Amino acid sequence: SRIRRFTWEVGYVFWSPDCQEHVVMGINGQFPGPTIRAKVGDTVVVNLTNTLHTEGVVIHWHGIRQLGTPWSDGTASISQCPINPGDTVVYRFKVDKPGTYFYHGHYGMQRSAGLYGSLIVDVEEGKSEPFHYNGEFNLLLSDWWHQSVHDQEVGLSSNPFRWIGEPQRGGRQRIPTKIAVGHGAKNPRGARAIPIPAFSYVTGQDFTSCPTLRGQNTRNICPIRTGLRRKIHDVMLKELHAKLMNHLLRWHVDASLLINGRGQYNCSLAAHFSNNTSTSMCDVNWDSQCAPYVLNVLPNKTYRVRIASTTALASLNFAISERKQNKNMKKEAFTLNRENRVQNHKMVLVEADGNYVQPAEVDSIDIYSGETYSIIIKTNQNSSMNYWVSVSVRGRKPQTLPGLTILNYNPNPPHKIPSLPPPVSPAWNDYTYSKSFSNKVLSQIGSPKPPTSHDRRIHLLNTQNKINGIIKWAINNVSLVLPSTPYLGSMKFGLRGAFDKQSPPDNFSNDYDIMKPPTNPNSVHGNGVYLLEFNSTVDVILQNANALAENVSEIHPWHLHGHDFWVLGYGEGKFSENRDAERLNMKNPPLRNTAVIFPYGWTAIRFIADNPGVWAFHCHIEPHLHMGMGVVFAEAVDRVKRIPRATLDCGLTGKMLTGNGRT
Ligand code: C2O
Ligand code: CU
Repeated sequence: SRIRRFTWEVGYVFWSPDCQEHVVMGINGQFPGPTIRAKVGDTVVVNLTNTLHTEGVVIHWHGIRQLGTPWSDGTASISQCPINPGDTVVYRFKVDKPGTYFYHGHYGMQRSAGLYGSLIVDVEEGKSEPFHYNGEFNLLLSDWWHQSVHDQEVGLSSNPFRWIGEPQRGGRQRIPTKIAVGHGAKNPRGARAIPIPAFSYVTGQDFTSCPTLRGQNTRNICPIRTGLRRKIHDVMLKELHAKLMNHLLRWHVDASLLINGRGQYNCSLAAHFSNNTSTSMCDVNWDSQCAPYVLNVLPNKTYRVRIASTTALASLNFAISERKQNKNMKKEAFTLNRENRVQNHKMVLVEADGNYVQPAEVDSIDIYSGETYSIIIKTNQNSSMNYWVSVSVRGRKPQTLPGLTILNYNPNPPHKIPSLPPPVSPAWNDYTYSKSFSNKVLSQIGSPKPPTSHDRRIHLLNTQNKINGIIKWAINNVSLVLPSTPYLGSMKFGLRGAFDKQSPPDNFSNDYDIMKPPTNPNSVHGNGVYLLEFNSTVDVILQNANALAENVSEIHPWHLHGHDFWVLGYGEGKFSENRDAERLNMKNPPLRNTAVIFPYGWTAIRFIADNPGVWAFHCHIEPHLHMGMGVVFAEAVDRVKRIPRATLDCGLTGKMLTGNGRT
């Protein structure tokens, strides 16, 4: 085993992740940050200098358990003090399991600002992976928002609330429901407005009400005045279509999906299939920062594709198209008939969150923020063509164009646009698909099984609430606000007054109706800690519920620091000790570090509290965490030895050090 040393400077840079230049948080002048590659048993040493001028910084190594090095977990207010501008901190930790990981900022919303990169751990020298492949690709998925994270943060804690990426006044109108068309575009009476179609696979928008705009159907669907209808001829329809496309491309929020930090804003590579020539077509400059990262393959080989999602918000579906026999496909795909969707390359799932899984064949991957997967693909398609690799939004009505890149079969030119349309992903709200995907992730035969019983079962109710009129997320009615002194130091040294003495509750009221908005939406801030007994087996039942608005319940991917956990099951409605506890999967539950809760459902996890330290457990959606959606676990902090002083230099631990004359 070796020591892998890195010297990094974090700073803002001008960058064009989606062909529009913005200020991005980079490492050594680069976005995304450099990839760390190490082997099992290696020690990674990162000398991190903060060259931001006005804010602190920390970096979290997502999925690395930090066995014996809890101070290197890189969570502000939990494991360390933020690194001040100009200061340097050394992260030193062992990587003990092969797999796909990543790292990211964990202070404020710095992950959303672009502070992230890949971390890949290979098997030890002389050992091999339990599956075979000829080559591999590493894809880090993210969503990029044009609005600065400072604006985002302020918006999230303002009254009225401002959701990320949604301009409130001025700026761009979010979802216009009508536009004026044709000769009457500026008609003050507005009588010639037609409804905006609701979805296009090209733009990612619903397109059901006005799908063709080709003439015959138009009048049935769109309330264009009878007098005008006669005047509609081809030219005008073309103009109309162009305007519509233009508009479609304008309403989505100011955000893009990125693959390895590259995406296209306001245009789609797929527009080549939309038989219109408006602005939606991308003219890719293949030398630019936003040029898609192309996957070059040889025919008839096997590849491993590593996929990690560090999105701020988006749940994603990842697919690779394949050739479909049907000759009419191009046409069908354009009519958006979901039954005739493009077929995809078969994928075999082999790894999830740094753990091998039971190989499972799937035709696309649902991936939530905080998750990683490895898939195996065979390049067994017609090699005279290139294919699409696509990433599209799930779980929330998409207002972001799908992210696309190319699977390039040698010897085709790498930038040759595939001759067939991109895959059509499952509908954003097809939760049946999502659930069946999640249930396919099972542990590999021979991997560690969970203890058969638990010592403690914590039920965590996820609710959307209000505090002083400001919208928050709360867990068992406590909305997390992190303290100024990191827990690791304040607990280790027994400093009083650093955080709420009282631990938050293990349960919520039995008669809470999870199907309805909270009857009393008011919540409280808190920063108490769940104290876990060392080496005990802990179950957590994550319970989803209705948000503040009627008939709304969102997806939340929960991520645990310092441990992997077994996912014992997902279920609908409120978890019942009588009915559901019996049916948990004790046979082959997968080990993971992130698990999603579905709308109005529950998810049960089990882990062993065997890693002395203080560990965050939170929703990996960045704005949700920022709005309080997390809890803090601590175990055996008295066993933690030699916390590096540089990580303690703030709040009460900082005072303590100064008081002792030690700094
Ligand atoms: Cu990747 Cu606490 O997060
Ligand atoms: Cu969430």
